[in-house]
Amino acid sequence: MTTMRINGRAFQSSSAPNTRLLDVLRNECDLKGAKEGCGEGECGACAVLVNGKLVNSCLVPLGQMEQAEITTVEGLPEDSALARAFVHCGATQCGICTPGMMLAATALLAEHANPTLEEIRWGLSGNLCRCTGYGRIYAAIAQAAG
Ligand code: FES
Ligand code: FES
Repeated sequence: MTTMRINGRAFQSSSAPNTRLLDVLRNECDLKGAKEGCGEGECGACAVLVNGKLVNSCLVPLGQMEQAEITTVEGLPEDSALARAFVHCGATQCGICTPGMMLAATALLAEHANPTLEEIRWGLSGNLCRCTGYGRIYAAIAQAAG
């Protein structure tokens, strides 16, 4: 049994320790925000925060999550400055990358309240978007910070 907190709520899973965190979130918790893109740690579509750090949940085994604090996109405030900025800047199109982008941005802004463009690029360097060309996403994060 693995015990953790997900979006502020206690959760226990009896799945095998090598079960991917991504599968626990999507299949056991019905939290579908984290997406499976590559399944190999390359795209960031499955990103979540574990103890405040950005991780790709497709690479993380459940067995490493004992007592972890996990935040998915569903756990972010609905009407945050970041969410409003994504909408205002048109930073989402198909939306597949958006949950991971929001969590990467959250982790970035926790470390750099007023990030430079270079810091924004670096903070999102593990998150791929095939639609927006990134400029609008960077603009949204700068707007949320400002
Ligand atoms: Fe996890 Fe691509 S699905 S990094
Ligand atoms: Fe489609 Fe980013 S909005 S992949």
